[in-house]
Order: sequence, then C-alpha cells, then structure tokens
Amino acid sequence: MLRFDTIASLRQHLAGLRANQSIGLVPTMGALHDGHLTLIQQARQQADVVVCSIFVNPVQFNNADDLARYPRTLDADCALLETVGCDIVFAPSADEMYPEAPSLTLNFGALETVMEGAFRPGHFNGVGLVVAKLFNIIQPDKAFFGQKDLQQVAVIRSLIRNLSFPVELVRCPTVRETDGLAMSSRNRNLTPDEREQATTLFAALTLAHDRLIDGRTPAQAKAAVRDFMSAKPTFRLEYIEIANADTLMPADEVLAPGQTAICIAAHLGKVRLIDNLVF
Ligand code: PAJ
Repeated sequence: MLRFDTIASLRQHLAGLRANQSIGLVPTMGALHDGHLTLIQQARQQADVVVCSIFVNPVQFNNADDLARYPRTLDADCALLETVGCDIVFAPSADEMYPEAPSLTLNFGALETVMEGAFRPGHFNGVGLVVAKLFNIIQPDKAFFGQKDLQQVAVIRSLIRNLSFPVELVRCPTVRETDGLAMSSRNRNLTPDEREQATTLFAALTLAHDRLIDGRTPAQAKAAVRDFMSAKPTFRLEYIEIANADTLMPADEVLAPGQTAICIAAHLGKVRLIDNLVF
C-alpha cells in the first residue's frame, strides 16, 4: 500500500495507472471501523485500484468541539487498510487541501432544509466541497459511500449530476455492532455507560419500522418514537423523520419497497448520533 500526502504526488502516480485501470475511491475522515472497511472491500471488488482518502475536513464541521474531539488514528487506520487490500491512502494536511479558505459555497437546495441539512447548517457545503476536490484530484470511476449517512448519499448524487462528474456512486449497506448500534467513528467518544445505552437509537428505528409495517401512518410512527425517546432522559432527540430514501423529502405514507427511510438523530452526552433504516 502506498501513502501520499500531497495532491501533486498522488496525481502523478494515478496518471500512470489511469489508461488501463479503473479507480475506486472511498472518502473517509479516518478512525476507521468495519463500516469503512466494507466500503474498501466493495471497492476492491469493483475497481482495479482502490484509493482511500483520510482527511478530517474542517469545512464540514459546524461545531468546533466536535472537530477538536474527532478521533485521529492515522497509523492504526493504515494498518487496517492493509488488511483489506487497499492500494493507496491519501492523507493530506488541511493546508494541502485548503491553501486558502474556500470562497466557493455549494447549496444543495431542498436537501439543505431537512434533517442534517436543517440541523447542521453549512455541513453539506463542506462535504460537497471536499468531495468535489477529491473527485478532481483522484478522478475515480466509482466512489463508495455508506447508507449510514443516507442524506450525504443524496448530496453526492446531486453533486455528481450538477457538476457532471463522470463518477458512478455506489451506496453500501450500514454495518452495525451486534446490539444494533451503527458503527461510527464518534462511538469512540461514548463513555462505557453511554455505549450501553446507545443501542436505544436502533431500538427507536425498529419501533417505527414495526409501526409502519402494522399499517400506522408515518405521523403515528414518529409519535411512538417521540414517546419512547422521552422515556430515555440521557438522550436528547433531535429529529425522527420518515422520508423518501432517494430525495430525503418527508413522506406521509409508506412508499414502494426500498423507498422508505426512517431517519433519526439524537444527542447522547457530548456525542451526536445519526442512524436510519430503509425498507
Ligand atoms: P466518515 O464519517 O469517515 O465516513 C466515511 C464513509 O464511511 C461514508 O461514506 C460513511 O457513510 C461510511 N460509513 C460510516 N459508518 C458506516 C457504517 N456503520 N456502515 C457503512 N458505512 C459507513 O462521511 C464522511 O466521513 C465524510 O463526510 C466524507 C464523505 C469523507 C467527506 O469528508
């Protein structure tokens, strides 16, 4: 596995490969876990050259404490990437990616008005900017993103369409711990007690799913989740939403199979967790 930390050196290396090999990109912010590694494995199956970027992108953090607390474990990450057959790690510094503060801003329209867009103003601008940069630097044939961040998938789809990137977007399933908690780099910041309680988030999604399957409306399913969460005082529910899994726009009825998403965000201590179920 090769490691690059400058844009120029990575570009030069990839230029020599591009003619006869396809490139798969897995963008990450590091602190890698099995969720990330399954994206690498997917890329390994679908592309000749697998590039993983590791960059804690300051522009997408709308909370300075969250950025400061974000775990950084580059050496351990590289060791993990070796085990799943990653070819190239791109781990630039913030100065390398942003020699000057970006003056361009991206707005994803309706996606900015719901859920992560509404509760984290500016977040998708930062995600869009860094992913556009990575697409320009690496010019992948395919890029792999996790369903864990379902709204981010919609943002990247919009980015690709709006800017005509010749990149195929691949959405990969959410990987969970055995108790249902979706894997996340931020889980490392939970205390042991909080970690035990964190499975509540998946229980809330399951509750909404059961209600919808029973024929209740999204409004009724959301009300059931609000009641359930209000009995868990350590959690602060931010939103529970039932939406179209592609557009992320609220749905007031269950949609075709694979089209309905149940999305949740909640604070547990200092950690903000998100999760979703698509059915
Ligand atoms: P990060 O949170 O590190 O996630 C990198 C990728 O891993 C994303 O596509 C995310 O959806 C996926 N992922 C995270 N947890 C997962 C899980 N439990 N199962 C499956 N996939 C999972 O998302 C980002 O970084 C950044 O916003 C980024 C796209 C890199 C731009 O900075």
